[in-house]
Amino acid sequence: MAEKVLQIRSLTAGFLTEKGFVKATDRVTLELDRGQTLCVVGESGSGKSVTAMSVMRLIDYAGGFIEDGEVLFSGSDLVKKKQQEMLKIRGNRITMIFQDPMSALNPVFTVGDQIAEALRIHKRMSKQAAWQASVEMLRRVGIPDPDMRAKQYPHEMSGGMCQRVVIAMALACNPELLIADEPTTALDVTVQAQILDLLRQLKQEFGMSILLITHDMGVAAEVADRIAVMYAGAVVEEGTVKEIFEQPRHPYTIGLLKSIPGLEGERGGELYTIKGVIPPISQLPSGCRFHPRCPHVMEICKQREPALLASPTGHKAACWLDEPGLKGAAEAETAASSHALKVTIGSKTEVTL
Ligand SMILES: Nc1ncnc2c1ncn2[C@@H]1O[C@H](COP(=O)(O)OP(=O)(O)OP(=O)(O)O)[C@@H](O)[C@H]1O
Ligand code: SF4
Ligand SMILES: [Mg+2]
Repeated sequence: MAEKVLQIRSLTAGFLTEKGFVKATDRVTLELDRGQTLCVVGESGSGKSVTAMSVMRLIDYAGGFIEDGEVLFSGSDLVKKKQQEMLKIRGNRITMIFQDPMSALNPVFTVGDQIAEALRIHKRMSKQAAWQASVEMLRRVGIPDPDMRAKQYPHEMSGGMCQRVVIAMALACNPELLIADEPTTALDVTVQAQILDLLRQLKQEFGMSILLITHDMGVAAEVADRIAVMYAGAVVEEGTVKEIFEQPRHPYTIGLLKSIPGLEGERGGELYTIKGVIPPISQLPSGCRFHPRCPHVMEICKQREPALLASPTGHKAACWLDEPGLKGAAEAETAASSHALKVTIGSKTEVTL
């Protein structure tokens, strides 16, 4: 069996507000095999970043805390670690890149110095060795003329170039796990594709595992081995890219797939949107959290929460439609209203929904 680099078990994290503790994630369970990429997708406010911040234990600094659950990193529970111990892990064995590369870079130091700093702290390299290693890292992330570039400040570089620097900084210490939170959202489409290519290539080269957070199913299709779909703080579906794109089980996942730009189908190019908005987790509806927006809602959905259940292949979904007795009735009800849509995602996948 593949070695698990990360096992998040029933993670409930949130924030103390005037109304008391408000959950941002609700019993989130995720697993990442060594050398693989797990993409976490979902709309804004679904708890993706809070999940990542909890793994890094950065949530403690954002006014939040982990109420319950475990985050096993190479078998050891990060939730139980003191911040002092996390300093040895964060930026070294687990690193993170964010949406806005400028916010991750210090404007008053050269990019070479910033990469070298991480190597000096975590790998105890000499000043000269760290500088040489940082130039080499810039070369490996595809920055032309790295000797010259290493001496430049962030404002002398483009956004795409800065994100390459941030990736170089994140990989300099050869982490076991890279967490990337919307790493391409701030970049234009061409640069976005280049950065995704780079991450794919570096994953192979460095043999690391990647937890990639995105609201974009197209990005997930390009880079993921497995995809977890989050809705209102909870994982509602999880499976391989093929399972998620070719046999989606949860109506929310199906809605996300239909919302991908570039649809070919019966709607003449009009973009599908999931009706309604994601509820704040403090005001979750009864039963299934997706039921007010679900086109297949049944009576049981309003009353009882469906469990996240795995198929024999490990494809998980939390939906009452998976109950054999209920599925037939729902299928008959929805057959009349469904539209066949063909979706092409990147160069990889074509599915009919
Ligand atoms: N610092 C904070 N204080 C209070 N609530 C917060 C804080 N950060 C996040 N939240 C709440 O936690 C919930 C989950 O937020 P999170 O940032 O994880 O969403 P997300 O899935 O990353 O969304 P996005 O796609 O917009 O980045 C939201 O309801 C949000 O309002
Ligand atoms: S449990 Fe019911 S409401 Fe929830 S996603 Fe499934 S069919 Fe829709
Ligand atoms: Mg986020």
